[in-house]
Amino acid sequence: MSYTRRQILGGLAALGVAGLGAGGVRYWLGRPASVASHDYELIAAPVDLQLVPGHLTQSWGYGAQAPGVELRCRQGERLRVRFINRLEVETTIHWHGIRLPLEMDGVPYVSQLPVKPGEYFDYDFVCHDAGSFWYHPHMASAEQLGRGLVGPLIVEEREPSGFRHERTLCLKTWHIDEQGAFTDFLVPRLAAREGTRGRLTTLNGTPNPTLDLPAGQVVRLRLLNVDNTVTYRLNLPGGEARIYALDGNPVEPRPLGREYWLGPGMRLDLALKVPEAGQELSLRNGSLRLATLRGVASSEVPGQWPPALPANPVAEPDLQRAETLRFNFEWAAMPSGDVGRGGSYRYWQINGQAWDINDRTCAERPIATLRQGGHYIFVLRNLAQYQHPIHLHGMTFKVLGSDRRRIVPYFTDTYLLGKNETARIAFVADNPGVWMFHCHVVDHMETGLMTAIEVV
Ligand code: C2O
Ligand code: CU
Ligand code: CU
Repeated sequence: MSYTRRQILGGLAALGVAGLGAGGVRYWLGRPASVASHDYELIAAPVDLQLVPGHLTQSWGYGAQAPGVELRCRQGERLRVRFINRLEVETTIHWHGIRLPLEMDGVPYVSQLPVKPGEYFDYDFVCHDAGSFWYHPHMASAEQLGRGLVGPLIVEEREPSGFRHERTLCLKTWHIDEQGAFTDFLVPRLAAREGTRGRLTTLNGTPNPTLDLPAGQVVRLRLLNVDNTVTYRLNLPGGEARIYALDGNPVEPRPLGREYWLGPGMRLDLALKVPEAGQELSLRNGSLRLATLRGVASSEVPGQWPPALPANPVAEPDLQRAETLRFNFEWAAMPSGDVGRGGSYRYWQINGQAWDINDRTCAERPIATLRQGGHYIFVLRNLAQYQHPIHLHGMTFKVLGSDRRRIVPYFTDTYLLGKNETARIAFVADNPGVWMFHCHVVDHMETGLMTAIEVV
């Protein structure tokens, strides 16, 4: 495969600094002077954050913030982003959940070459599906996502959805100490278990913020788990909330219920009936408060629950003629601590194969080759007592059922496979390419739990 579009930056001096913000250089994100080649310029660069009062954290951000600046487009439209790398390391951008051509998928040495410091790359693709998506690098992921290279991508419905208010809420638990300095993103002994957890839980980069919402209105809350490791057990005691979409894909609206487990990479679109002015709700992870939601006086007439969101144009798998493939997610057979070629650890494997993040040839040995246009059922079996949010690039799949919980079939890009659970998913292999299939607990993915599925 030949790679194009990656370019050396030249004459971009005019681009950068639009002003100095507190705690770091503020770069410009917006419409470029000429829209011939792209609509947005997105810069990855170091940015100092004040996550711990009185201390600076030397984070990496997109558009001078972490989580990164929110990108938006409308369903059916092209999103054209010139990505500019002002970091001192190579990186890429992967558009999580977006069904796009392989050359836009952001996987180094599979879909493109890494974007070197001082280079840019033009991403350009059509957003076929509306919903809450996100973007992040696909190399040195534990560190790059850990330092803050994560951001929301919102694709608006073609027609107004009926929501007059919405908020995007990115959940991330930072690997920092009491002075705001980064701690290890991947501790091998923990990577072999549930993953390396950060210490400071934040919502949009702030620990336990208070969000003012218009009283009596129905607000769409787009919750995105952009964390490396943590599964948030979301609950809203006393709140009137309904689920409208899972991982970007609409579902028949239903009550939030007691708790929803949002694994790394996953998204939840909730409609919340905001309580009266002065009343507060707490959005929680288990018993830990993530944010206070406060009703503030609103002059609008009380809001109604909008109708279900329109389905995305995802092909319906035909289970009668589908071929079944099985995937076991398990501990690596090698003794713990066994080190791969490039010094990477191998603790996990899929059907006996551990992915080595330092071995560029792994993608040349896909675990399965699917026929383009073929229908497939994947049986996903977790042989370990830790959960794995299993994610597929390039195609959206339908979750059919599980031996552990009752499933109303729905479309998604990530399924949280519980301990010792077996689940069945199905999809039409309608996108040619080599697609990563991995656990989104970044420490698991970097210690073996990744593979490639080829569609030809
Ligand atoms: Cu969020 Cu391989 O991706
Ligand atoms: Cu992805
Ligand atoms: Cu995992």
